[in-house]
Amino acid sequence: MKGLRRLEYRGYDSAGVALLNDTLNVYKKKGKVQELVDFIEEKDTHAQIGMGHTRWATHGEPNDANAHPHYSTSERIAIIHNGIIENYAALKTHLQQQGHVFHSDTDTEVFVNLIEEIKKQNNCSLEEAVRLALHEVVGAYAIVVLSKDNPNQLIAARKGSPLVIGVGKDEFFLASDATPIIEYTNEVVYVNDYELVVIRDGKLEIRSKEDVSQTPYIQKLELELESIEKGGYEHFMLKEIFEQPRSILDSMRGRLELEAGHLNMGGVRAYEQKFVNAQRIIIVACGTSWHAGLVAEYLLEDLARIPVEVEYASEFRYRNPVISERDIVIAISQSGETADTLAAIELAKSKGATIFGICNVVGSSIARATDAGAYTHAGPEIGVASTKAFTAQVTVLTLLAMIVGHKRGTLSDVKLRELMVELSNIPSKVEQALLLDTEIKQIAEIFKDVPNFLYLGRGYNFPVALEGALKLKEISYIHAEGYPAAEMKHGPIALIDENMPVVVIATKDSSYEKVVSNIQEVKARKGRIIAVVTEGDQVIPAMAEFVIEVPATSEVLMPLVSVVPLQLLSYHIAVLRGCNVDQPRNLAKSVTVE
Ligand code: G6P
Repeated sequence: MKGLRRLEYRGYDSAGVALLNDTLNVYKKKGKVQELVDFIEEKDTHAQIGMGHTRWATHGEPNDANAHPHYSTSERIAIIHNGIIENYAALKTHLQQQGHVFHSDTDTEVFVNLIEEIKKQNNCSLEEAVRLALHEVVGAYAIVVLSKDNPNQLIAARKGSPLVIGVGKDEFFLASDATPIIEYTNEVVYVNDYELVVIRDGKLEIRSKEDVSQTPYIQKLELELESIEKGGYEHFMLKEIFEQPRSILDSMRGRLELEAGHLNMGGVRAYEQKFVNAQRIIIVACGTSWHAGLVAEYLLEDLARIPVEVEYASEFRYRNPVISERDIVIAISQSGETADTLAAIELAKSKGATIFGICNVVGSSIARATDAGAYTHAGPEIGVASTKAFTAQVTVLTLLAMIVGHKRGTLSDVKLRELMVELSNIPSKVEQALLLDTEIKQIAEIFKDVPNFLYLGRGYNFPVALEGALKLKEISYIHAEGYPAAEMKHGPIALIDENMPVVVIATKDSSYEKVVSNIQEVKARKGRIIAVVTEGDQVIPAMAEFVIEVPATSEVLMPLVSVVPLQLLSYHIAVLRGCNVDQPRNLAKSVTVE
């Protein structure tokens, strides 16, 4: 149950367990893990082997029947599964003809019946039946299978969805990520695609696609238990927002050496020349990471003068993009497991591009699939709405743009030095921005019941406007739109009336005057202006209803500071509306299905 709770951030619409002693007991319940905990209180939970699952629905609505684990028709085999089996409908029809009975709408139940059918047809071991079944299914999976007939055995496999093994003393653990394991052991083995894992009689065996036994590569994790607990904060999201001065510093550690006067990023070194000669950089990502990519577009074009395109990974992978060997693809992902981003990488790889990854989770699938990369070192992010991962991504991308720009000669020594000094001051400026918390809470009280919000920004603050709007809609369910401030007049301006809050990120930068005009346009339509401005601004406070002052910094670094009040605003609004901040409805932290 503890383990499931740790994984709950990945999906929380239903949960279940299968426990094996003399009988194979499956208990499952719609809702959060707590519902399951209450449900099994009176049940027989004695077992020495078992498995559990917390679900994020793909096939079939969240209800008890669709929750995992799923039984085979004979109720002798049980399975848990992450991912999607695309050819499940055809398999299901075939299995029904063979007499298999289904109790759910899931693709997973098809999988377990397929294993049972193959086992029967071939009169083979469970392990062999799983191996053969994997050849029949199309799609993505991480599965764990157990059977009443083999009480000392767990079989697992992966393709596309993450799976990690914890190696304890006389015991093993399997999970989608290391967070539920770390309490028991820091030795882990990351399972690769197409590998089959057999844990039997206290021994671990990993077999390759070709069915050859592999020597497990055991790695030591540096994850600390405190980093995945709330540490006195009411929510993980708030804790993570407040961790940013530290996480930004961690993402620069060993990379920005102010005294020695140089920048240094391990992953870039071997590919420096490729970056210098790149004819184009394509950034692929999803969600908040995509917004970090947009900031990077401004940074890389500005500082390194390399053309950049920022793509939604889910679009990129299906639209036959033009990619050449002189292109560098940067994949950005907090979890390192997002299925669309992973698929975009595979596509770009197949066309010969160099792939550079920016991930937060060490050892994640994307980190392993890329040619080179840099970790963001933000520490585990549990709140579904991404905060510290975003600022860490932007920090790493800023360092990258500075390194490449300097090498290419587009960023002078003097400008580089200036930026280095300013970047090293960012953690304390974020600290200052966090002092706005109480003030922002008061603004949240005023706007907590509105149905719509508009966020406007230009230049480097345009992606910040998008990110501010995303944060609000994710956790408070208020409809919010982010827009380039000047583009407002081509549409969203029609929405503005005396009830519409408009958050304008209007810090002192090269488009400041223009943004001031945009604020006038909103004011003329009686919109309620909440302006994020640079400390000491004399002009905008006279026009805006609410003013949030952030410390001054260089234009190119401003997103790292200006995003902070927007994170806090969405947090407080969501709390005041009684929303579940860390686990907003329908969302998942790590989307391992396409
Ligand atoms: C999900 C999360 C978002 C995240 C996005 C991309 O939608 O809810 O917070 O930004 O996935 O995730 P990644 O792990 O690839 O950054």
